[in-house]
Amino acid sequence: MALTDSERANNSQDPSTLSNPDVFRCTHLQLDCAVSFETKTISGVATYDVERVSSAQSDEDKVFFDAKELIINGVKVNGKETAHTLSAVPGMDPEVFGLRLSITLPRSSLGTSKVSISYSTTPRSSAIQWLPPSQTLGKLRPYLFTQCQAIHARTLLPCQDAPAVKITYKANVTVSAWATCLMSALSKGSTTTSSGKTIWTWDQPVPTSTYLIALCVGDLSSRDISKRCRVWAEPGIVDAVAYEFAETEEFLKTAEELTIPYMWGRYDVVCLPPSFPYGGMENPCLTFVTPTLLAGDRSLADVVAHEIAHSWTGNLVTNSTWEHFWLNEGWTTWLQRKIMAKMKDDDKFFDFDAIGGWKHLTDDVALLPDNFSRLVPIIDGCDPDEAFSGVPYEKGFNLLVDLERRVGSPAFGQYAKTYLGTFKYVTVTSTEFRTHFMNYFKGHKNLKDFDWEGWFHKPGLCPTPTFDRTLSQGSEDLAAAWLSYDEGKGEVPKVDTKGWNTNQRTCFLDAMLVALEKADRKLQKGTTVSMDRAYGYSKVKNSEILHRYSLLCINAEDDTNLKTILKFVTTQGRMKFVRPLYRALYKSKMGRSAAIKTFKENADFYHPIAAKMVAADMGMGEGGEGEDEGARKAAADVAEFFVDNKMAIAAVGIAAAVGIYLTRRKK
Ligand code: BES
Ligand code: ZN
Repeated sequence: MALTDSERANNSQDPSTLSNPDVFRCTHLQLDCAVSFETKTISGVATYDVERVSSAQSDEDKVFFDAKELIINGVKVNGKETAHTLSAVPGMDPEVFGLRLSITLPRSSLGTSKVSISYSTTPRSSAIQWLPPSQTLGKLRPYLFTQCQAIHARTLLPCQDAPAVKITYKANVTVSAWATCLMSALSKGSTTTSSGKTIWTWDQPVPTSTYLIALCVGDLSSRDISKRCRVWAEPGIVDAVAYEFAETEEFLKTAEELTIPYMWGRYDVVCLPPSFPYGGMENPCLTFVTPTLLAGDRSLADVVAHEIAHSWTGNLVTNSTWEHFWLNEGWTTWLQRKIMAKMKDDDKFFDFDAIGGWKHLTDDVALLPDNFSRLVPIIDGCDPDEAFSGVPYEKGFNLLVDLERRVGSPAFGQYAKTYLGTFKYVTVTSTEFRTHFMNYFKGHKNLKDFDWEGWFHKPGLCPTPTFDRTLSQGSEDLAAAWLSYDEGKGEVPKVDTKGWNTNQRTCFLDAMLVALEKADRKLQKGTTVSMDRAYGYSKVKNSEILHRYSLLCINAEDDTNLKTILKFVTTQGRMKFVRPLYRALYKSKMGRSAAIKTFKENADFYHPIAAKMVAADMGMGEGGEGEDEGARKAAADVAEFFVDNKMAIAAVGIAAAVGIYLTRRKK
């Protein structure tokens, strides 16, 4: 069971922060900072409005902030120099949570205090990836982007890094004249300084959790795609990006029909360089996306629908702590599928996509320790990145679908709007959601026996749902035909798949992967070769298809495509693709040494979070009990390489990865 607050090392309702928002709470941030690509640092002053929480004991006079991998140069309270301390909190590993910045406020300050912290990031700050020109498309200018979710905001600036602390923010960011600076806020224009730099001004008037603060600086161009939507990217791909995401306004309108009015003013999208470790990140007013979505046919744009959905479920109504992350991702997955089904005018699409989601869930549950396969995981002492999986997305989604089926879709749709209206601008726990839902549907006959405790806390898979298979049937049949062929029971299937869309193709490949996993069986090498002959998969540009085909090739030990697979994992760093592929290569005969070698040679291409997770995955590659030594040696081997090469940032990540691996093994 989860720990009670008083049992927690940090004495807080949130196990992932060292700050004390129950006593003093930040309400607004004014950030004035400058970006230096030369020193790979961002430095400046973060000024917070800090309020005493009314229920707090009046003799408590210290406000605490989270600070990690930062240098604190000085603090002022209401304009007066004030002492501060920076210290580790017993029981809270500084490698994970950083340090507690403690500042004493004057006893007399009853209302709001202005707390100004002068600080600098360090090149180790894990929220920021600093890319050399070689990692950009243009090759001429460096680039930076941040990724603060879940607990990296504290490495970008000192803050109360807890989702329950929602602040408005304004920022003035100074960058070189050639650069464009974007933030998760509304633009208030730019000015030129006497030294020829540019100051970009931003305003986020909607209260926002710190994990949603975001910054991107580079050589960027833009295209307007509607009144309130614009895409940004490096100049060489901006037109392709505008084409790929042209449906954004329609996604947004459809989402508004399903929810309540859009509160954030603008919805822009920036397409980042290929090392961005996620598919998309819902930074308010400015979603970040991976270039692996650029399929050329808009077939992967549903990631944008997902990030748009977060404008309500996540950004407006937010998980109280990372234990309740499913309230962000499960609701968003539900809303994303509603948006897509409504736009396609086909309810069956909701079920079709859910079938793919179920595979994601079963894959991840098979790999996760029990404490992380619960819908409400136990994450005390852990980095939430470590607990990240398909569980909050797909188990959360299935919980909502179960509820929806019990009360009926129209009533559930109405409920969703009420839920958003009730909890907008604040945060929610799983129990608060349960209470709110049960009150709304008080006395409903289909909810009497609803097993909330089981859904929230039971590890492993949830009850198997039934989804309409009309749209998946053809793909599943084709998978069965290929598997028969593989067993020597038939010819190469002759089904004409020319008119198939990406969803049908990925569903087909998923169905093959599911069947192989279930039967713990390997394909014949000749089968993937024949599939390539039939469908040209090894030349395919679509990342979702290439990913699945690569997994099949590794399963079949088909090394004719090893080069293609290694190219795929070294030219993009999206964790959804690189983690399973490195894991599979490492487990295979054909790819084990290539995986280690390739990862070592390309480690500084990856985002620090991705490098850390891939290293941890390879450390646990063997899986079975009793093989700790070999796996630990592999992880240590990789770490040693980084130290030898003085790649301090990666070395720290890898050391942490070995730690993750060892803790996972203990559980
Ligand atoms: N908020 C997540 C990404 C994230 C989660 C970053 C946890 C850091 C920690 C984002 O909305 C997301 O879910 N992205 C998915 C998109 C997909 C489910 C459509 C991704 O990155 O693949
Ligand atoms: Zn999401």
